[in-house]
Amino acid sequence: MRIVGGSLAVEDQWGWQASLHWRGQHVCGGAIITPRWIITAAHCFVEFDMMLESDWQVVIDTIVVTHGKRYNTLRIYPHPKYTQDTNDYDLSLLLTDSDMRMGDGVRPVCLPAYKQTFPAGSSCWVTGWGYTREGGTVSPQLRQALLQVIDQVVCAGPAVYGSYLTPRMLCAGSMEGGVDACQGDSGGPLVCQTADGDWRLAGVVSWGEGCGRPNKPGVYTRVSHLLQWLNQYIQDEDPGRTSGTTTEQNDTF
Ligand code: ARG
Repeated sequence: MRIVGGSLAVEDQWGWQASLHWRGQHVCGGAIITPRWIITAAHCFVEFDMMLESDWQVVIDTIVVTHGKRYNTLRIYPHPKYTQDTNDYDLSLLLTDSDMRMGDGVRPVCLPAYKQTFPAGSSCWVTGWGYTREGGTVSPQLRQALLQVIDQVVCAGPAVYGSYLTPRMLCAGSMEGGVDACQGDSGGPLVCQTADGDWRLAGVVSWGEGCGRPNKPGVYTRVSHLLQWLNQYIQDEDPGRTSGTTTEQNDTF
């Protein structure tokens, strides 16, 4: 029962999964969106004043968190509206100093469409090396869990998160508890499969009260609401984007 209530991830199934290492240790998850850009949570960097690029490495192409291919970090861009007090706009981009090699299962995840909604009840997967129970330890192997998108109004209900929930947030998990992301999964992807079989990045692991508690589902940064901010970086500044690699690999999956 890890991530919380999940299972071991299947090799190559989540080829966009990244581990962000700070001074050699797994701290957060992330996802490849182009060969040069990783999307993750802003709180990974701000909480402990961990903004120094040279302290961070991106690790990809692995199920085992201590293995994988490593890339150095050139730039970290937290969303300018992110605040620690509310966790609103909990999104960040990380630019690697060289192109990450795609292929052999390693591939970018598709971003959602502008304002794309993921209806309540949709099935989505979260993946990460985070704690396997509240107050636990990081998992050496990547884990996955199947979650349900939870209705925004329900999640903003008084017994759940009330006014802490903003339009930039999306809740997923189970109202009964038992299945959730947890510490160390932060920044990692929540993906939902669309009717045409594409996986879309619906959310980024952000916060939750405890892990897997009843009435306290996981809260994810709603990527479809922050695309304008993302595009301003990945379109203008993506030195790795050549016609072909990114799109083709996603289309064939
Ligand atoms: N903030 C946590 C981290 O830094 C992730 C919390 C996710 N919690 C949850 N119950 N879904 O790793």
